Amino acid sequence: MLPINIKAHAKINLTLRVLGKRPDGYHELETVMQSLALHDTITLTSQPRGIQLTVAGDAPVGPDNLVHQAALLLQAASGCGRGAAITLTKRIPLAAGLAGGSADAAATLLGLNKLWNLGLPLNQLLALAAKLGSDVPFCLQGGTMLAQGRGEVLTPLAAAPALGVVLIKPNFGVSTAAVYGGFAAVKPTRRPNTKAMAQALLKQDARAVAAELANDLEYVTLAKFPQLVQIKQHLLQAGAQGVLMSGSGPTIFGLTAPGHSALVAAKVDPALGQVIASSIN
Ligand code: C5P
Repeated sequence: MLPINIKAHAKINLTLRVLGKRPDGYHELETVMQSLALHDTITLTSQPRGIQLTVAGDAPVGPDNLVHQAALLLQAASGCGRGAAITLTKRIPLAAGLAGGSADAAATLLGLNKLWNLGLPLNQLLALAAKLGSDVPFCLQGGTMLAQGRGEVLTPLAAAPALGVVLIKPNFGVSTAAVYGGFAAVKPTRRPNTKAMAQALLKQDARAVAAELANDLEYVTLAKFPQLVQIKQHLLQAGAQGVLMSGSGPTIFGLTAPGHSALVAAKVDPALGQVIASSIN
């Protein structure tokens, strides 16, 4: 069997509203998620047994890697005894709010389902994805989606209009659990309006999409790392039409006219962090 190559796309959150803490410790969400052209690549080759992971770039190798966990979970769920050699080429920054690890896990589920000829339907893969992490079900599908529950209840929305995206990932990561844990102590003043964002998408109104960008978790992460406020201002001055922190952070993204993300990225001070020009997918 020939190796299978799969792209694992990063995501941003165009809105993220925290509705409250649940008895299971997770937070109930309403978030508009959007996949990006930026992606990691996963190559899968069948082998008689065992999961062997090789990483090119910056990511843990071994049982901590969600790729490894996804492969073991699929083996257990399907009873498949076969193994795989998996090469992960990382481009999406880690601990960044871009769902890099989740995207890799989702791509692994999709790829191994093919490689091992398991024929599991999407709903079964989605259930496995939810066990691996809150963002993994979205990553399995991609596009533009409303995510509810802890992130696993997905409703497709109108595809976003063509947009460039510039990402600035400062040189530190954040713990998603710590950011959610800090939410009870903050009082957001401008809350996301999910319906208005969905309307803006439906109308293909890029200006309204930029105007409706809002993320409750900014109130936690920006208070802890005030340099993110400066990064937002800097990105607006560089020409972004709207700026926001993605997920729990710390990556800040800016939306640009289609094809303009490289121009805007070139104006960003590289001292602020890793700068990536991309677009919505
Ligand atoms: O699901 P995932 O493993 O990605 O979540 C990491 C952590 O983020 C959780 O352990 C939880 O503390 C927090 N989280 C949350 N509510 C969500 C998603 C994540 O509190 N909806």
